[in-house]
Amino acid sequence: AVERTLSIVKPDAVAKNVIGEIVTRFEKAGLQVVAAKMIKLDDEKAGGFYAEHKERPFFKDLVSFMTSGPVVVQVLEGENAIAKNRELMGATNPKEAAAGTIRADFAESIDANAVHGSDSAASAEREIAYFFAADEICAR
Ligand code: CMP
Repeated sequence: AVERTLSIVKPDAVAKNVIGEIVTRFEKAGLQVVAAKMIKLDDEKAGGFYAEHKERPFFKDLVSFMTSGPVVVQVLEGENAIAKNRELMGATNPKEAAAGTIRADFAESIDANAVHGSDSAASAEREIAYFFAADEICAR
């Protein structure tokens, strides 16, 4: 089925100047960008996004990393978009990410891991609405 998923190009990848290389991978895999913006998250916006991890030991570092520089948030649309994006990203920990995945090629550590992608249909719906109003998403 055609799905939508939320993608974030994280501060490390923006700083490395590889936004375009990452978006190209999505496009080459048949995913279309239907919404996009660059923003600098603050503690409240990043903390709310990752609310499910609030009790985890890495939460504080995660929020401080995600607010360390601008990010690019996008809605990707396509057949099987949620799983396809996760496949393109590779494992959360770049040391475990398969060769040729975004994290294997661009990420340094489990914190600075280049990209985020929704992990389920329910997360995708919540995460897209967290960053985009309905009229900011462009049907194609
Ligand atoms: P992301 O997919 O954005 O979701 C939560 C983020 O927390 C994850 O990517 C990692 O960058 C970060 N993180 C740091 N430590 C861990 C950990 N032990 N397990 C999962 N995520 C972690």
